[in-house]
Amino acid sequence: MSKDGAANASPEARRGFGQPGATASLEGVTYRIAPEGGAGRKGTDGAGLTILDDVSLTIGAGEFVCLVGPSGSGKSTILNLIAGLAKPSVGRVAAAGIDVRAPGNDRALVFQEAALFPWLRLRANIEFPLRVNGYSAAECADRSEELLRLVHLWRFRESFPHELSGGMRQRGAIARALATDPAVLLMDEPFAALDMQTRELLQTELERIWLATGKTIVFVTHNVREAVRLGDRVVLMGTRPGRILSDIPVTMPRPRAVDDPEVAALTRDVAGSLASEVDKVAREEADDAWVAPGNRLRPGIRRAVGSRL
Ligand SMILES: Nc1ncnc2c1ncn2[C@@H]1O[C@H](COP(=O)(O)OP(=O)(O)O)[C@@H](O)[C@H]1O
Ligand SMILES: [Mg+2]
Repeated sequence: MSKDGAANASPEARRGFGQPGATASLEGVTYRIAPEGGAGRKGTDGAGLTILDDVSLTIGAGEFVCLVGPSGSGKSTILNLIAGLAKPSVGRVAAAGIDVRAPGNDRALVFQEAALFPWLRLRANIEFPLRVNGYSAAECADRSEELLRLVHLWRFRESFPHELSGGMRQRGAIARALATDPAVLLMDEPFAALDMQTRELLQTELERIWLATGKTIVFVTHNVREAVRLGDRVVLMGTRPGRILSDIPVTMPRPRAVDDPEVAALTRDVAGSLASEVDKVAREEADDAWVAPGNRLRPGIRRAVGSRL
């Protein structure tokens, strides 16, 4: 950068792409929703249902953080809060140190189902957010080419989404999310609908894209292997109410092989903690006769149960 710095850059330069990741944070965030069907529903009182209870989470600029937890633990809610689609009942949500009040181009969401418009060709899909934001035709063309090459879909630029495989559509969705150059990429189980081979391929692709762009990524997944493979940290969430149970740094060098002993050991640890949280939820939801499916993996417990029958 010139010694004049960004403040004196020309408007063109300021609009240039390639901005790195920014911080995202939740400070003492509680998120409640109004009681549905009035007070008395399980977990409700006059104040409504508490979805997240006093969650504090700081994500560094350029960091890759994975959230895992049972369904209903508020993972999507955390993404929605950072995206500005939901507002905390208590506490503060910030991106790049600035309070989040509404959605903005500095934060983009990617969902499980690729949100590409079926009636637009891939390239037009990626240019769509740029056109909406007033970029010129030349800027749109340059940027969409750069992104299509980044996700290795340049050859398919004229295809419609239905002509692409699920993995290709998700790569297209990532390219579109990156179009306006967000600092924070929020990904809600983006690979959950893909078969295992495609999923592993996309993990490699995402890691490469992350390293190439320096974006901050907050990645929700049910898959502990995926979380340990990709995250700088794995944040384990608990439920009723949603909260953070542990925040585990993952320090093994990248790229991580799932069969690396250290990676495998950490995966087992996290999966064990997640399984006991899932068990807890299942027990609360079911009657006393519930036997957690995980128990078949623990012969000691199974034997103990059997001996009392
Ligand atoms: N706007 C809402 N209205 C009613 N329930 C909601 C709303 N938002 C979230 N919830 C509930 O809050 C809980 C947490 O939701 P969510 O963040 O989607 O969890 P996760 O992504 O971990 O599965 C769920 O039980 C969900 O049904
Ligand atoms: Mg969710």
